[in-house]
Amino acid sequence: MTGWTTADMASQTGRFFVVTGATGGLGLETALALAKAGGEVLLTGRNPAKGEAALSHIRAVYPDARIAFGLCDVASLAAVNAFADRLIAEGRPIHVLINNAGVMATPKRELTVDGFELQFGTNVTGHYLLTARLMPLLRAAPDPRVVQLASLAHLPGKIFIDDLDAAKNYHPWTRYQQSKLAMLMFALELQRHSDAGRWGVTSLAAHPGLAATDLFRRGAATNLFERIKAFAIGLVCQSAAAGAWPTLMAATAPDVMPGGYYGPTGFMEAWGKAGPARIGPSARDDAMAERLWNTLAKMTGAIWPSG
Ligand SMILES: NC(=O)c1ccc[n+]([C@@H]2O[C@H](COP(=O)([O-])OP(=O)(O)OC[C@H]3O[C@@H](n4cnc5c(N)ncnc54)[C@H](OP(=O)(O)O)[C@@H]3O)[C@@H](O)[C@H]2O)c1
Repeated sequence: MTGWTTADMASQTGRFFVVTGATGGLGLETALALAKAGGEVLLTGRNPAKGEAALSHIRAVYPDARIAFGLCDVASLAAVNAFADRLIAEGRPIHVLINNAGVMATPKRELTVDGFELQFGTNVTGHYLLTARLMPLLRAAPDPRVVQLASLAHLPGKIFIDDLDAAKNYHPWTRYQQSKLAMLMFALELQRHSDAGRWGVTSLAAHPGLAATDLFRRGAATNLFERIKAFAIGLVCQSAAAGAWPTLMAATAPDVMPGGYYGPTGFMEAWGKAGPARIGPSARDDAMAERLWNTLAKMTGAIWPSG
């Protein structure tokens, strides 16, 4: 199906969604739309005050929304493990995990508490570990799905497999492109593992095109040129609500393709209704995807189901 919007979304009553980075931007819009459709949503984030504000924002529009906030800093393996431990103790099946949290183009090379380059350590490693840890809860639900947030920025991206920490070479945009390419490759590789191991999990990826969020107000706008560029991008962005459509389509549409990638279908996939998106040639490098998967397993200590 193509030309999808939230008007096409069926009732999500009885389905449980976990959304990372849901305290603002696309994550909040995703949670809002799912709650409107009757889904139960666990919004996660690293800032409890923003979490409370996000819940209040949704309840102001939908007072009966079935929503809660869970603390989960995806840039910390310990925090991801603690969050996963809590959900596993509750034992509640998860229908859809949406790995949305992200940072873009941090001006200087920074490291996470685990010593990973900040963009890779936020956008990729925590989500890889979280997905592996929540796999038993996903497998306990009917039609379980995992949706990774990629980007048009994956198209020029390259995986620096021998320098993931950017110790040898750091450029804000190159590292952002790498992180989003890695998320798309992770989605494709997860589908291959799910198929081979008969895990029964549908793995998908989505990108919002260009959507007006705080992402462009943070990042590498440290000089005049970058600020003008961010301003110009802001002029052509679609709303955050529309930017969430591809994610919502991947998470809820009944006829998605396992291993599918969804994005806007308008000009250059920058905006418009949601549908299948273009996967760049680098993301089709299955050998690199396997290397990345194995490297991430070592970096995070993630353990995947044996069958
Ligand atoms: N906007 C676009 O046009 C665009 C285009 C392509 C891809 N994307 C992707 O879409 C996703 C959402 O971005 P957005 O545009 O909605 O940006 P945003 O408005 O900046 O929202 C990002 C969200 O991620 C959270 N976050 C950041 N670091 C985190 C961490 N360590 N742990 C937990 N949560 C964290 C933020 O929380 P805090 O407020 O606490 O920082 C915020 O809730 C990202 O993966 C981004 O790469 C966006």
